[in-house]
Amino acid sequence: MNEPGSFPAYYDDLALSFNEAWGLIATGVSNRNSPAHMPVVGTIDALGVPQMRIMILRDVSQPGRSLRFHTDSRSIKAEQLRKNPATSVLFYDPAAKVQIRMSGKTHFMTTGDIADAAWSTSTPFARRCYMAEAAPGTPAAEASSGLPEWIEGKQPEEDQLADYRGNFAALLVEIDTIEWLYLANAGHRRARWQWNEAQNAWAGSWLIP
Ligand SMILES: Cc1cc2nc3c(=O)[nH]c(=O)nc-3n(C[C@H](O)[C@H](O)[C@H](O)COP(=O)(O)O)c2cc1C
Repeated sequence: MNEPGSFPAYYDDLALSFNEAWGLIATGVSNRNSPAHMPVVGTIDALGVPQMRIMILRDVSQPGRSLRFHTDSRSIKAEQLRKNPATSVLFYDPAAKVQIRMSGKTHFMTTGDIADAAWSTSTPFARRCYMAEAAPGTPAAEASSGLPEWIEGKQPEEDQLADYRGNFAALLVEIDTIEWLYLANAGHRRARWQWNEAQNAWAGSWLIP
């Protein structure tokens, strides 16, 4: 915890806190050891129940207000997002003592430039997940990876992956709300920013933690 006098520059500065939030999560894309690399992504199921799971953060765009994730287009979360795009993403960086909540709507992309580029720049090993024969979440009679036997424990070649491109989806979460919580002994700091479509700008304010 910070001692009095050793506060970060953003402690009492709303604009710096906003940039710090985006900077912390952007680190999650480039640094796999960053806690922001594996946020919790929440969706809403058909019964209105929140469903959360860890996902790897693949890309962040502050100007685009977006986060990108990858998933199987046959997955349960994909089904939920097709029905209800509402999405919440939760980050906690223990060293920075910062919790960031971002929420918005997911654009579900199986075709187009973004999905194509996301597929072709993923490693063959990462893309092997999409070779599962049955949809993720399908009940199995016995313990199984779901992968075809011939590829178990092996890295697929590019031409072996082509048939499975249809199982791949990029999820682009368009963020419209950001909440920031910074923990400090001397007093926590909490803020929220809301995207104002008409003004094409973020509107932020401090909140009582
Ligand atoms: C460290 C870690 C990283 C993961 N990354 C992803 C990911 O990038 N995409 C994904 O769809 N699932 C990922 N998962 C699996 C999900 O957490 C989840 O178990 C799975 O996708 C099924 O979720 P669903 O039934 O809600 O679709 C990851 C799990 C862990 C533990």
